[in-house]
Amino acid sequence: MSSYQAHTLAALLLFCSLVSAGTVAQESEEFDAEAKYQATCFACHGTGQAHAPVVGDTIEWEIRLEKGFDTLVQSTINGLNGMMPARGLCSDCTDGDLEAIVQFMIDESQ
Ligand code: HEC
Repeated sequence: MSSYQAHTLAALLLFCSLVSAGTVAQESEEFDAEAKYQATCFACHGTGQAHAPVVGDTIEWEIRLEKGFDTLVQSTINGLNGMMPARGLCSDCTDGDLEAIVQFMIDESQ
């Protein structure tokens, strides 16, 4: 192996260990609700697509919140009226992740 190859390999190994360390750190940290919202829910809730309540619409979310936060989380998990798809189409979100996203959406709509 040339010293150049050895160097590249060492750099690669270092890179891999940094990436895996980063992954572990991320798992123990808070789930990134905003990034997940942008990736999944925003398609409807950022645009009002299919008459979804738009994030940032204070009155709309105030009315919905009257049902209680837990009810909103349940509607997210189960879907609502055939309009809001179950789990908001986020197949890899846990119930806790969905709850964090709903909290994020409400925080953004104060
Ligand atoms: C395909 C479009 C679509 C996607 C994607 C979507 N929603 Fe919705 N959502 C809707 C619509 C439409 C409603 C309004 C349903 C109604 O009130 O009949 C709604 C309603 C809701 C409500 C209010 C529920 C209630 O009880 O009033 C919450 C909370 C919510 N969505 C969260 C989410 C979250 C979190 C995601 C992403 C994980 C998501 N949605 C993704 C369309 C969508």
